[in-house]
Amino acid sequence: MKLSKFGRKFTRQSGINQLMVDLGEAYASNHPDLCMLGGGNPAFVPEAQALFAKEMERLIDNKLFDRMVGIYDGPHGEQRFREVLATYLNTKFGWNIGPQNVSLTNGSQNSFFYLFNALAGEMPDGRFKKIMFPLSPEYVGYADAGLSEDMFTSFRPKIEHLDNKQFKYRVDFDELEVSDDIAAICLSRPTNPTGNVVGNRELARLDELARKHNVPLIIDNAYGQPFPNVIYTDAELNWNENTVLCMSLSKLGLPGARTGIVIANEDITRTISALSGIITLAPNSVGAALMTRMIEDGEIEHLTNNIIRPFYRTQLDAAIEVFNEVFADLPILMHKPEGAFFLWLWCQDLPISTKELYARLKAKQVFVIPGEDFFIDIDSNWQHTQQCLRINYGQPTERLRAGFDVIAAELRSLY
Ligand SMILES: Cc1ncc(COP(=O)(O)O)c(C=O)c1O
Repeated sequence: MKLSKFGRKFTRQSGINQLMVDLGEAYASNHPDLCMLGGGNPAFVPEAQALFAKEMERLIDNKLFDRMVGIYDGPHGEQRFREVLATYLNTKFGWNIGPQNVSLTNGSQNSFFYLFNALAGEMPDGRFKKIMFPLSPEYVGYADAGLSEDMFTSFRPKIEHLDNKQFKYRVDFDELEVSDDIAAICLSRPTNPTGNVVGNRELARLDELARKHNVPLIIDNAYGQPFPNVIYTDAELNWNENTVLCMSLSKLGLPGARTGIVIANEDITRTISALSGIITLAPNSVGAALMTRMIEDGEIEHLTNNIIRPFYRTQLDAAIEVFNEVFADLPILMHKPEGAFFLWLWCQDLPISTKELYARLKAKQVFVIPGEDFFIDIDSNWQHTQQCLRINYGQPTERLRAGFDVIAAELRSLY
């Protein structure tokens, strides 16, 4: 088959695609020793699932289900949901937005595809613009989302060493440069893969830089406030006309509803809506239908603050305890976990790459994600890029412990 450039670019084998295939096969194998510490799936949180199921019953009883599955929403997404969400965000954060600032997509991944390609790549005047990630490592899902090659540029972080075998990446403002070919600045906060939450002051500086250079600041808030609110540190959430805040229902426990939300100025909202109209006709209606009443009645607060966040906090505490116990004799550091549901481990001076370590662990039915692919556009000669692992700690503690034991034994033999 003869493929276009687009066809080739979007079907070629990427490292992360192969990993996802591996993870899918591992799930399907039902192997009794399987420890699934890879993947970005949110955990099954039974109390949250019960609330979603009840809401679906309510939609059926109220005949709203028919509307949910029976009509196309407008390309910007379901109108009442946009209104209710805007009101909720204004009340919660003191903003002044309206439905004209809210557009829905089929998941954040879809939002980033639209945003990156609408803002960067080949420009009408023949110039080429890029999306800048000010802090690497960053979410691997961005890496292949550009229609053109080389659409991203990243900066190495400063590494701050902390107590208790922890460290934290910080934006290296001395190195950061917003050159003329930058179309937008983008970061995930909390960050996948590290669990980092870029501090309020650092974020304010990025906002200032973006405004100074007249480029949007895209904040990927997939794990942040107000939902799912998987964030364990003090983090302010501000919005202005230059901010593009990307939210999602996935990490609340609804990845199958494929609902992304973009909060942005009216120009960007119109752009997203126009792209949706052409590419998907209309965004998915399921997430909006499920969440409208919950947001309007404030039940979302109960869901996030009493169910989702405590669930992941308990998981995190258990994961830290197991980490401290199992890796005590090894030169392994953990990124300070401030949000999301991943541990990011730095295996200092690891004698092999984490891709090789991944293969060894896979043979023992323990699945983690090697860190290399998260260092988008960073020179792989920097050894650090080959010394990190991402672990999803949404698993039952005994699985986590079993997996950590296998990882530690493998590392001990390597060191
Ligand atoms: C930081 C980050 N952004 C975006 C996404 C994509 O989420 P969605 O399911 O909304 O497309 C993910 C999913 O893992 C993520 O971790």
